[in-house]
Amino acid sequence: MLTKIKLLLKIIFDAVRKIIKLEKLLNLTKLNGKLSIFKLFFLNTICILLKNNFNKKKINNNISISNYGEINFIEVTKNLEEDGCSKIYNLESQKINNIKNEIFENEFESSLVEAKKAMIKEKKTRSSFPIKIEKSPTLKKIIFSNQFIEFSKIFLKTDKITLSASLSYSIYGNTSNREKIREAQFFHYDIDYKNQFKFFIYLNDVGLENGPHQYATKSHKKKNGMLILNRPFPDKMITDSYNIKSYEGKSNSCFFIDGFGYHRGLPPINERLVIGIDFGSDFIKYYENDYFYKV
Ligand SMILES: [Fe+2]
Repeated sequence: MLTKIKLLLKIIFDAVRKIIKLEKLLNLTKLNGKLSIFKLFFLNTICILLKNNFNKKKINNNISISNYGEINFIEVTKNLEEDGCSKIYNLESQKINNIKNEIFENEFESSLVEAKKAMIKEKKTRSSFPIKIEKSPTLKKIIFSNQFIEFSKIFLKTDKITLSASLSYSIYGNTSNREKIREAQFFHYDIDYKNQFKFFIYLNDVGLENGPHQYATKSHKKKNGMLILNRPFPDKMITDSYNIKSYEGKSNSCFFIDGFGYHRGLPPINERLVIGIDFGSDFIKYYENDYFYKV
């Protein structure tokens, strides 16, 4: 009983600390109004507990969503429900080339060289750039295809969606634990929305040395004891409790995860360039470029 009370107090303490930090860093009340503070408090306390204890509700088995190229959305829905993560699918290589050219305005190689120089100078191992979805008609066409919209609506159980896209470039560096936490290289889970999923697209080939994305399968369903706390945990605590899926794949690989399960980017020895798109139920903007839509 005492342990449960202690855990509850820790959850509340973590929630308050996180909200203060987010408000300072991202100015959430300016982007969403004062009510967003209560929404965030709810998400980071009651919602965590509800999701951990009652996350059993199945999505209707009779759903029908057509495939988008290789992406089989019925399979994605089933895998996200059961394991919290999908398998790897491949997009057409031409689409990846178009996305690279559109985002980097036809200066893909030189932009990376510049970004790498800046990171080395600033002693950083990861840079994240928000993507305005309008900037890439190819990416926009994928995200707003009928199949994607139908899947988002079914999985998020709402027609109100917030979308946030960013490009993340990681390079090797001798990073401290503090930096690893900041760069999402420790296992952690996200609770930015009541329901959420992430869609990743690799823009370069990612093997073990490039810091593949890793997911603790089934951790979106149940987190025992301390693991319910929304904090980064040492690898061993997660690897002892769950099976880890590592996403290694070619530069046109893409996959989906439920952000409520433990995940991270393995610290790289070589470079990794990945687009990450967050889809959240409800309208909460974390960044200026986040995009609201009703489907
Ligand atoms: Fe995350």
